[in-house]
Amino acid sequence: MRGLGTYSWILVVHIAAISLWVGGMLANDLALLAVPSGGPPTANRLMRRWNRSVTVPAMVVTWIAGATMAILGGWYVMGWLWLKIAVVLLLSALEGAQTANLRRLAEGRRPPAYLQFSSLVIVAAIPVIATLAVAKPF
Ligand code: HEM
Repeated sequence: MRGLGTYSWILVVHIAAISLWVGGMLANDLALLAVPSGGPPTANRLMRRWNRSVTVPAMVVTWIAGATMAILGGWYVMGWLWLKIAVVLLLSALEGAQTANLRRLAEGRRPPAYLQFSSLVIVAAIPVIATLAVAKPF
């Protein structure tokens, strides 16, 4: 088997990190909204620990690997990357809102109403981002 080049390994890291990040965001959403008043305190504590130790680091690794490929591949001159970055910024902001509201839930404060749309935003954003990254239409 032919070995993968450095760029391809960065892409592997990018896609693996995306999986963990997005999976973590959907789990955050479940912990915030689907479980009445956050469920038992242990569920909130475990979700916050997972968010801190896996989901947020995976988001950071996604960004670092993506930015590295953007420089190595010279993709930053292309429009699709900037549209993709705009959508990824939205997801990153949503991750921040989830993190803050998981903490507030532990203090007995309910999540804001707009977080009801989190899973919709996540499920809609991923195919848009993936299409932009693979098709590179402009
Ligand atoms: C949820 C967030 C993200 C998703 C779902 C995503 C998805 C993808 C996918 C599916 C590919 C594979 C494309 C291919 O092999 O043809 C890819 C590659 C890439 N991504 Fe991301 N990405 C995300 C975040 C980012 C960020 C934040 C950046 C830049 C700061 C970025 C920059 C890139 C670059 C430059 C490539 C390489 C394109 C290529 O070599 O063909 N990505 N991404």
